[in-house]
Amino acid sequence: MNHTTATSPIIVAIDGYSSSGKSTMARRLAAEIGYRYIDSGAMYRATALYAMRHGMTRPDGTVDARALTAAMPQIHIDFRPEPGGTQHTLLNGEDVEDEIRSMAVSSIVSPVAAIPGVRHALTAMQQSLGRDKGIVMDGRDIGTTVFPDAELKVFVKASAQTRAQRRLTELLAKGVSTNFEEVLANVVSRDHIDETREESPLRCAADAIVLDNSTMTAPEQDRWLMDQFLKTAAERP
Ligand code: DC
Repeated sequence: MNHTTATSPIIVAIDGYSSSGKSTMARRLAAEIGYRYIDSGAMYRATALYAMRHGMTRPDGTVDARALTAAMPQIHIDFRPEPGGTQHTLLNGEDVEDEIRSMAVSSIVSPVAAIPGVRHALTAMQQSLGRDKGIVMDGRDIGTTVFPDAELKVFVKASAQTRAQRRLTELLAKGVSTNFEEVLANVVSRDHIDETREESPLRCAADAIVLDNSTMTAPEQDRWLMDQFLKTAAERP
């Protein structure tokens, strides 16, 4: 069944904690219903990579917010579809998909995402990507700030240990040398920065449906999300 022809397109906003599996769910739903998928975290990661490459990050883990805010008009982020339904992130035309998933970028991305000038610029880009609806976007503030009127909002959570284990498996499969303690520390520290930053902190929208997927398999999550989508679509005038 082609779900896109059954109803007028909507916006699906999927927010939640890092490594909660929300990107996988979001990407699979988008492929199934013929919507565009946007990984907004990849946009923050690409911006963090730009800051690292241009000497805007300091050895103490802080970022030159003023320089990066001024550089935002020079940062162009695109997504290139890849076979198998995935996509690669392009930073000013360069494929940076692998680099933005490195521990180096992971450890600097939360301070980058806390800079108001970065958030304003990326929020504007995300809103323009969703202008025609028919989009599934995942992140931290999609249902609260980017698309407060999204027709379907989901907030995904799972314990920090579960998320660290998932992330560790992913990193080891990619050949990254790390261990559980290091990954758990990174997950906990990112949670803290994401939840306590002043600008658009990670929080659940009042009208979001909460999913704790700690004990769910990937197919169970996919089915659950598809059910929510079909229910929302069926309720539309
Ligand atoms: O989902 P992720 O782990 O790839 O996100 C990377 C970082 O970007 C994470 O620290 C939170 C931040 N982020 C954000 O602040 N707002 C978003 N909409 C998406 C990600």
